Amino acid sequence: MSTHSNQTGEPRLASVYRESDSAPKVRASPRVALPEHLNPVTGKFLRLLWDELGSELGVGDDLEPYGRDETEDLLYLPDVVVRPQRADQVAHLLRLCHEHRIAVTPRGAGTGLSGGALPVTGGVLLDMSRMNRILKIDTQNMQVTVEPGCITEVIQQEVAAHGLYYPPDPSSRGSCSIGGNLAHGAGGPHAVKYGTTRDYVLNLQVALASGELIWTGASVLKYATGYNLTQLMVGSEGTLGVVTQAVLRLIPQPTQTLLMLLPFPTLEAACLAVAEIFHLGITPSALEFMERDAMELVSAYLKRDIHIPDEVQAHLLVELDGPQVDVLQNDAATLFDALQHRTVGEILLAQTATEQQQLWQLRRQVAHAVRAASVYKEEDTVVPRAALPQLISRVKELGNSYGFKSVCYGHAGDGNVHVNILKGDMGEEQWNGVIQQGIRELFREVAALGGTLSGEHGVGWVQQTYLPEVMGETQRQLMRGIKEVFDPRGILNPCKIFTVNA
Ligand code: LAC
Ligand code: ZN
Repeated sequence: MSTHSNQTGEPRLASVYRESDSAPKVRASPRVALPEHLNPVTGKFLRLLWDELGSELGVGDDLEPYGRDETEDLLYLPDVVVRPQRADQVAHLLRLCHEHRIAVTPRGAGTGLSGGALPVTGGVLLDMSRMNRILKIDTQNMQVTVEPGCITEVIQQEVAAHGLYYPPDPSSRGSCSIGGNLAHGAGGPHAVKYGTTRDYVLNLQVALASGELIWTGASVLKYATGYNLTQLMVGSEGTLGVVTQAVLRLIPQPTQTLLMLLPFPTLEAACLAVAEIFHLGITPSALEFMERDAMELVSAYLKRDIHIPDEVQAHLLVELDGPQVDVLQNDAATLFDALQHRTVGEILLAQTATEQQQLWQLRRQVAHAVRAASVYKEEDTVVPRAALPQLISRVKELGNSYGFKSVCYGHAGDGNVHVNILKGDMGEEQWNGVIQQGIRELFREVAALGGTLSGEHGVGWVQQTYLPEVMGETQRQLMRGIKEVFDPRGILNPCKIFTVNA
């Protein structure tokens, strides 16, 4: 186990963020003022951590990697990082932080896009990545028990070896962890047929702020035993407790898949096709949208020489799965016929598993391709599926009036579009001023279309300013009340979702 300490073996406050430090080593954002109910991390508290948990924890001062996730270019440095390996250590840490009123920011793999894992007030960064064991695969009951630091794709691969399937697959599945997926209720392309993380959680072991460890329910397929604490934890973004084990439901692996890429002359034509596909009685296992710029950026990023004809402005990536390939082929033929009047140019049908993987790679790498091109704000708009054409056209109109370029792509079958707003060479004032006004207006329109501000990335740090556009004060007050019950001292992931006491 690696620990970092000074020569006497005692932990020390990281120097990078001390106010007295004249030359910070990295350019971090100014911390949010510590809420009145919390205390700063002192040398005394660090010594206590060291005494009680030091032999078990990594207490480090190499803080920069823990101050970022994948949200814009934000960086907030914690005071200290703790890296437990067992649930009881997490619980012990929370008890100490509760007693001393110290902020704790839980972190999974740091792939979040709403800043949920950013330690904006400093304090303790609780890195869960070392708790990454798959504890049990129960093939009889089709369940898997995992620790929160497990990488999502590793879980998928391990259960696939038993012919089982864990469907939720965020694009970052090769690097994100299940704990983060639980914290945000993550989705991914296959949610359209199979549902999101939420739909696969049976039971959670959770460390509470008080230092108790509880199970939220039972590992059963039906649950009508009072309030559903399991579902309450999902999407709570580390503000109510810290998941230390999860029991997940599995299903049999689908055996056959067909994947095709359909080109459209306008964004609107592609969006209109989405609802039509479902009206044919076909439920694709994935139905993804990419506008032309997304496709161009990702082809350049992956150095793939893909020719997109001039008349093509958007694509839908459609996957069908099931046990019989001839049924899938029939469905594909029905779909081609019905959409013929909307598409333009050639439909690409992946002929081999390798071709399927290559197409999927194009889609899954869009976020990284956009990131490589520019700093961006990623909005996670979601509307009822049939309202997609209106959503996309409003995004583009708002871009024109507020002066931003957007790249749109995402889970069209779910009505969930990622609107990436590029910073390019825009100044900070515009980026944090007029662009935010434009985004606010976008969310007002999303709400008017019956949608909301996040389908799968969460509210976290950067989206909370827009929450009132889609949710009334009464609902937010109820959420604050729940937070108060679980975390009366407000130590858990402060300033996320809503600013406590604000
Ligand atoms: C995606 C992530 C960004 O869909 O949600 O690629
Ligand atoms: Zn997504």
